[in-house]
Amino acid sequence: MSTLGIKRVAVIGAGTMGHGIAEVFAMAGFEVNLMDISEDILRNAINRIRDSLERLSRRGELREGVDVIMARIRTTTDLARAVSDVDFLVEAVPENAELKKNVFREADKYAPPHAIFVSNTSTIPITELSEATNRRDKFAGMHFMNPPPLMKLVEVIRGKYTSDDTINTVVQLARVLGKEPVVVNKDVPGFIVNRVLFRVMLEACREVVQEGVKIVDLDAMARNVLGLPMGPFELLDYIGLDTSLFIVKAMMERGFRAHPCPLLEELVSKGKLGVKSGEGFYKYPGPGQYVKPKILPEQGLDLDPVRLMAPAINELAWLIREGVATADDIDKSVRLGLNYPWGLTEFADEAGLDNIVDALNTLKSVSGWEEYEPDPLLLEYVKTGRLGRKTGKGFRDYPEIEERRFEEIILRVDPPAAWIILNKPDKLNVLTPRMADEIVNALRMVEDDPRVRVVVITGSGRAFCAGADINQFQNATPIQMFKAMRHYQSMTLEIEYYTKPVIAAINGYALGGGLEIAMACDLRIASEEALLGQPEVNLGIIPGAGGTQRLTRLTNPGISKELILTGKQISATKALEYGIVNRVVPKHALEYEVRRWVKDLASKPPLALMLAKYAINYGIEAPIWSSLNGEASLFGVAISTKDAAEGVRAFLEKRRPKFTGE
Ligand code: COA
Repeated sequence: MSTLGIKRVAVIGAGTMGHGIAEVFAMAGFEVNLMDISEDILRNAINRIRDSLERLSRRGELREGVDVIMARIRTTTDLARAVSDVDFLVEAVPENAELKKNVFREADKYAPPHAIFVSNTSTIPITELSEATNRRDKFAGMHFMNPPPLMKLVEVIRGKYTSDDTINTVVQLARVLGKEPVVVNKDVPGFIVNRVLFRVMLEACREVVQEGVKIVDLDAMARNVLGLPMGPFELLDYIGLDTSLFIVKAMMERGFRAHPCPLLEELVSKGKLGVKSGEGFYKYPGPGQYVKPKILPEQGLDLDPVRLMAPAINELAWLIREGVATADDIDKSVRLGLNYPWGLTEFADEAGLDNIVDALNTLKSVSGWEEYEPDPLLLEYVKTGRLGRKTGKGFRDYPEIEERRFEEIILRVDPPAAWIILNKPDKLNVLTPRMADEIVNALRMVEDDPRVRVVVITGSGRAFCAGADINQFQNATPIQMFKAMRHYQSMTLEIEYYTKPVIAAINGYALGGGLEIAMACDLRIASEEALLGQPEVNLGIIPGAGGTQRLTRLTNPGISKELILTGKQISATKALEYGIVNRVVPKHALEYEVRRWVKDLASKPPLALMLAKYAINYGIEAPIWSSLNGEASLFGVAISTKDAAEGVRAFLEKRRPKFTGE
């Protein structure tokens, strides 16, 4: 504290933010002068601070007694007295530029010349506020999140005149307060957190207004698919719809390119302000009584997570390109300021930057909104092959991803997955005996690699695999074909009885042998654009890599015959209806969805997955008595593993299990 030369701090404004900020300073050992315009407000603030400290104390989170901390806070209604002896001043009065400027103008007269001034504003330019003082270099933004005692993030904003010394002091001070500062290098409307937050909110709102998506489904997707603590509409209700509307409008007035959300305007005009008024997008038991909206685990799974997040990723690109903040600070902001379980760069690189651009272009054409134009930084990345994890480089570099090129496939080890990429895009990844052998070899290479918990098979270019290479059928002898089919069958059996789960990411055509590869996998996730079929009869031949059997087992003899006898292609959606694929997603969301399944499977005990897979795959071929006997025996094997002991113990101890694969 002394190294910063700050001992006494004025907090001007004792409302929601001000009283919390005063509490944070007092907890960190600073003397605080808390000022507001009436004794009533101050009394209320002091009561709220004491309540909050007592709660923290009961949870064992205070190093000192409540009274010791409270004794550091003095209150006054006199601005001159509040600031005359301080080294630092935080302004937290209502979001009104003139009011704030008046406070700063007055405070500037009475505060010691060395004192640094910061504003907790979320909407008013720091530069403009600093101009009300004669200490523009000692003026910065210091934006706490609500509630200040609990939220770790503090945005430190550089105004036009702010000196490096001031920024450094505010950053260090934030750390002394136990906070995690991020530096906002340019005074842009909404700084980092609100810019990102409202990109997501406004896209959510657009989907409801323009496309009739249900509010609760969208929130469900945010929780169930993206893993966010709250959906966009829940969060708006929580923040307050009037506050949210005010922030968006203020940002837009200052040049944040966006379209307003008519739903917000409508609800606010009806006095529905969210949790605080008892109703907003959701109904609550009474004003101020928050209850989490009920959402089922399978709800919202059909909505597109990449599309919802794409505008926020575009914002990330803008913030980096404009030099407003670093990728690290932006990631930190969403993790700590919005409680996202991941950073935006992580999301973008996993989803694929080509897919983000694709999603933005789709959004731009369906909405007609210019703000969805992909940022030049994203376009540049895509042009130079920085596509995210799949190319080892995106917003970040991934030197740990290993790539091995075979003649016809690529093996990419990107733990916890290994990706097998069928790689003859010009020939739609047609299957040859060599490709089949390479797939088998690749699978064997990663079988004993404990980092690899799941294998993904996909195709490069526009096809998954357009079937066996038809050239090999010309002038072929029965014996040659018998041997070729053996290669294909060993490959599909290798996949089917592989000791780790295998996912087919069906990015395009999956025809003939292509569909046969996919059907040997454990799970199939298809792009909306994929077409599937067993077209062999059109050539006068029949499926030879298991198609007649696996398609029949996945569907039923009727559907299987329909597809094999007509040789027709069906859409991914039809395939979903027939039970051939597990999930269909937009093309730009395929990579994200596959990685989500990978993470889910990788969090499970690997031996149990292997044994379950064996019980199903062997069992389906045998009479039920034999299959059940197999199941019981494999259960016996499962219970002998360390992971089973851990799984059971963790459940009883009410903690998350740690599986090691032993
Ligand atoms: N065997 C050999 N070559 C194949 C192939 C196959 N199964 N499937 C596609 N190709 C080749 C095409 O001959 C073409 O090569 P070229 O550029 O040298 O002429 C290239 O892949 C691109 O295919 P093309 O037909 O031009 O693409 P398209 O978009 O017009 O049609 C398909 C796509 C998948 C509908 C079409 O290629 C097709 O019907 N393929 C055969 C599918 C099949 O019958 N599979 C089962 C085989 S047992």
